[in-house]
Amino acid sequence: MHRVGVVGATGAVGRELLGVLEKREFPCEAPLLFGSKGGQTVESGKWGPLDVSPFSVEGVSGLDVVFLAASGDFAKEYADKIAAVVKTCVVDNSSALRLRDDVPLVVPEVNGHLCKGAKLIANPNCTTAIAIMALAPIFAAFGLRKVVVSTYQAASGAGAAGMRELRDGITPALQNIKDDGCFEGASTAEVFAHPLPFNVVPHIDKFQANGYTKEEMKVTWETKKILGFDPKGDDGPKVSCTAVRIPTLRAHSEAITVETEKPCPAAACLDVLSDAPGLTVKDDPGDNLYPMPLTATGAFDVEVGRVRQNIVFGENGLDLFVCGDQLLRGAALNAVLIAEKALS
Ligand SMILES: NC(=O)c1ccc[n+]([C@@H]2O[C@H](COP(=O)([O-])OP(=O)(O)OC[C@H]3O[C@@H](n4cnc5c(N)ncnc54)[C@H](OP(=O)(O)O)[C@@H]3O)[C@@H](O)[C@H]2O)c1
Repeated sequence: MHRVGVVGATGAVGRELLGVLEKREFPCEAPLLFGSKGGQTVESGKWGPLDVSPFSVEGVSGLDVVFLAASGDFAKEYADKIAAVVKTCVVDNSSALRLRDDVPLVVPEVNGHLCKGAKLIANPNCTTAIAIMALAPIFAAFGLRKVVVSTYQAASGAGAAGMRELRDGITPALQNIKDDGCFEGASTAEVFAHPLPFNVVPHIDKFQANGYTKEEMKVTWETKKILGFDPKGDDGPKVSCTAVRIPTLRAHSEAITVETEKPCPAAACLDVLSDAPGLTVKDDPGDNLYPMPLTATGAFDVEVGRVRQNIVFGENGLDLFVCGDQLLRGAALNAVLIAEKALS
């Protein structure tokens, strides 16, 4: 049985990691949990209540796998130190190490071979991880020239505090709605830039000099790196993203337009997507069947559908829609799949 540690176990991703380890029957003893402080307990189904210890490098020394679900600053300070004392690998969920040349950025179904022998492995940004499940098989079958993504991202992307702010904000917002659909009274926001209930906010992470947000540039850089290109180089597909927060709780949705190298009939693309691991095709418009955050929530697979020829790019263009539980594919599930590959 392997010995596993989870740093950030009280957070949104950390809690999810425990559930995924259990559901995938990961061969490990009760995981050791770490947070910024002790005195907390996290409930787990299989192992019962687990105590959280204050993090220390000594505390994780000798474990087989350590999952990091704390901040980027934490990873910058400790990831290398932890990697030096674990037996197999550290899997980091933050963005801090993703573009480091010596750290593979892995979605196991796409580039899982990079896990073997790597001491430090980065888990991609949630939006990227969900999109790449559909983009990678299209890239392999038809090549990719251009990718344009528009996202509809859930509150959980901002962690446990983001989910709490949305849930706590709904009742006050409901009370502020007038008969004409306008709002009276002020709503407040701390985690998000603006109140999220009944709103969409085209602002996730910090604005950059080029007008994109950091979240949007992560999609560009990380998609290229996972597909095997220099994240900031000119080779490979051009990728642009507009990232928008919406008032859903867990699953992200993304409208994706691609221009391919080879002609890509929509029916042939659907065949390719049907054969791809980690994807469930939901594409029967006549039966109102398409991906939705409600149906993607809690599921390991990413849903893909609304696949159609794009009328701007013609026979080399496709439009599609994906939804994925971003706490799972965008974080905990992907991390556990990485650990499975690293240990195999
Ligand atoms: N939310 C997502 O969907 C998502 C997706 C992909 C990646 N990520 C990344 O995953 C990481 C965790 O995200 P989250 O959403 O789970 O955040 P979160 O809900 O805010 O949880 C943060 C966790 O980090 C712990 N922590 C903070 N400082 C620490 C320290 N010095 N030592 C040990 N533990 C410390 C906290 O423990 P205490 O309670 O003890 O303070 C808490 O358990 C972040 O880097 C985030 O960017 C998140």
